[in-house]
Amino acid sequence: MCSCVRVCASFLIHSLFRTCFCDLCSNVQLKDDLCEVVSEMETLDSGEDGGKNSNKAKMMSIGRKKFNMDPKKGIEYLIEKGLLQHTAESVAQFLHKGEGLNKTAIGDYLGEKNDFNEQVLQAFVELHDFKDLILVEALRQFLWSFRLPGEAQKIDRMMECFAKRYCECQGDNKFFENSDTCYVLSFAIIMLNTSLHNPSVKEKPSIEQFINMNRGINQGQDLPRQLLESLYNNIKAEPFKIPEDDGNDLMHTFFNPDKEGWLWKQGGRYKSWKRRWFILNDNCLYYFEYTTDKEPRGIIPLENISIRECTDRQKQYCFELYASGGADFIKACKTDSEGKVVEGKHTVYRMSASSDEERKEWIQRLTQSISHNPFYDMLASRKRKAQLYAKN
Ligand SMILES: *[C@@H]1O[C@H](CO)[C@@H](O)[C@H](O)[C@H]1NC(C)=O
Ligand SMILES: *[C@@H]1O[C@H](CO)[C@@H](O)[C@H](O)[C@H]1NC(C)=O
Ligand SMILES: *[C@@H]1O[C@H](CO)[C@@H](O)[C@H](O)[C@H]1NC(C)=O
Repeated sequence: MCSCVRVCASFLIHSLFRTCFCDLCSNVQLKDDLCEVVSEMETLDSGEDGGKNSNKAKMMSIGRKKFNMDPKKGIEYLIEKGLLQHTAESVAQFLHKGEGLNKTAIGDYLGEKNDFNEQVLQAFVELHDFKDLILVEALRQFLWSFRLPGEAQKIDRMMECFAKRYCECQGDNKFFENSDTCYVLSFAIIMLNTSLHNPSVKEKPSIEQFINMNRGINQGQDLPRQLLESLYNNIKAEPFKIPEDDGNDLMHTFFNPDKEGWLWKQGGRYKSWKRRWFILNDNCLYYFEYTTDKEPRGIIPLENISIRECTDRQKQYCFELYASGGADFIKACKTDSEGKVVEGKHTVYRMSASSDEERKEWIQRLTQSISHNPFYDMLASRKRKAQLYAKN
């Protein structure tokens, strides 16, 4: 099963469980009461003596429990009881301290899209001091302070705040031209962690591949090799820990189904057929002359592309990739006969597989790769931004 489907399924189960839980309690009030009773009993058990302080401690404990069940309600309660001020800073400090708080709940609260929660997120990130930390250590600290929620938009907002804060903390002593670079590199590190440490990812990227992956992300410039090497080695030596790790790490969503094999490919200008070795990886389709070639003859990014079966007079089991959304040409590149990289001239890429089964398999894998992946889109647009040359 596609890893993305697996992740989605787990979200579904997660949210189903939540609603079921509420239904069981039949109403929210009951849940709240229940929580207060439990807290009160615990406070009694701990044998605290009476008075104002213990009353406050008791309410604090109730507030924490409420927060863990329903972050918004918990915060409202604590504000109402005067234990937190109604300011982003006050709430952020509470979350940052995190005493007795569930990190999944913290992540949920910080990820909410509304003015106040976004201000809290901002203030929360500002409580982190990333001075003198290399990026991977800063990420370790940040990602340990709450559990990253599963939605692309939430992750995007949180990582953007992180990247800005990290850059801010470096002062003049900085590698990154802007925070987009830091953002893109942070994701590259998170993905590297999954590639290197998740047993279901078979191909472990080498240090060279990691460096290549990050070409030009510093406003068109490369980052210092030494920096990338140290990040790579750091992750290789020790995986990223995330709180509440249920083994279903979300970043798996980035890894699209891979496939490789021989296909016949029809030329763009001359309609002759050539046998090529195709590799589908990371939302790109590569083709090689020989399986052992290091450099592909061509690369077809699977963006704005559709796929369909077709028939051909010369070949069986054909399918083709065509530009969707009104474009005339497919944006792709290839190496010409002199070894120069040139833009492709294909309006369609027509391929022929060795059997109907093979064709179906390719179409299925390609469709999965092409289909909308919010994480991928989000990262791709960021990467384009980071790779833009500075305009001057
Ligand atoms: C925190 O909450 C999540 C989701 O509600 C749950 O799966 C996890 O077990 C909780 N963690 C602890 C330490 O209670
Ligand atoms: C890093 O990889 C390990 C092993 O797959 C995983 O448990 C952990 O959640 C990953 N960390 C992040 C931040 O994705
Ligand atoms: C894909 O289509 C979108 C929307 O039409 C456009 O903004 C984007 O630049 C296109 N990407 C490529 C690689 O052509």
